[in-house]
Amino acid sequence: MSVVTIERRGHAVWATLNRPEARNALSGIVLTALEQVASEMHDTDASVLVITGAGDKAFSAGADLKERQKMDAEETYERIELINSVFNALASIRKPTLCALNGSAYGGGLELALTCDFRIAVDTAEVGLTEVRLGIMPGAGGTQRLPRLIGLARAKEMILLGRRIPARRAAEWGLINEVVPAADLAAAVNRWVEELDGCAPLSLSLAKEAIDKGMDQELDGGLMTERGCYEQTLGSEDRDEGLRAFNEKRPPKYQGR
Ligand code: COA
Repeated sequence: MSVVTIERRGHAVWATLNRPEARNALSGIVLTALEQVASEMHDTDASVLVITGAGDKAFSAGADLKERQKMDAEETYERIELINSVFNALASIRKPTLCALNGSAYGGGLELALTCDFRIAVDTAEVGLTEVRLGIMPGAGGTQRLPRLIGLARAKEMILLGRRIPARRAAEWGLINEVVPAADLAAAVNRWVEELDGCAPLSLSLAKEAIDKGMDQELDGGLMTERGCYEQTLGSEDRDEGLRAFNEKRPPKYQGR
């Protein structure tokens, strides 16, 4: 059985971390499989990527600490390079991505969830960047993506104290978009996928690019980025279709061009 199973469900690709016996820890093979997922999302006609984990104990307990203990310094550096390049590839997917937190996410597991556009979690999940309790610190985007998402004070509370935060509080903080009972997770994710699927793919891709690039810029530069993205929607067939469908009072049929 693969350590990451890939399944097409309607318009979404579901990638499932599949090492429940190791709480879906991110071993080298898992990371390489996720790299493949990121690259295939560019070519597939699927419109959304969902990343989840097998079992009900954890979405992912982060870096594979058993594997890490056996690594020398050079292997550890290579692993940090790999995890960052994989997470950057996932964050750069030009389609909406959604993390379905079937359980808790710690360390690299939460950093993986932070590469997604949306996070939906079961009500029993906890999230934490626990690295300072292990003599390291977040090194796969956590110190950068988390404060951009929830602000400095709460990010520092999570990172400097290594606290494990319950899903509902994480949702109040804006880290998690929706919290549901475990039995409802798949249905809740499917509702998000369907809603995204009703939107124009090119618009989603360009709006995502404008938000993500703009977050790293001053307001003036961000507004220029937005304009550049907006203008790319203007000549699109989907824009014409959107206007026609609105005026003809019917649902639009978008083609992604
Ligand atoms: N890397 C490798 N193996 C891990 C792991 C990790 N990050 N996290 C858990 N495992 C393994 C355990 O060693 C155990 O293996 P064993 O059966 O060979 O002893 C197995 O997964 C089950 O773990 P266990 O702790 O017994 O399960 P649990 O359901 O009681 O608790 C967690 C699950 C995730 C809460 C707990 O394992 C944990 O806190 N893990 C560390 C999380 C963390 O701080 N990650 C940050 C990494 S930087």
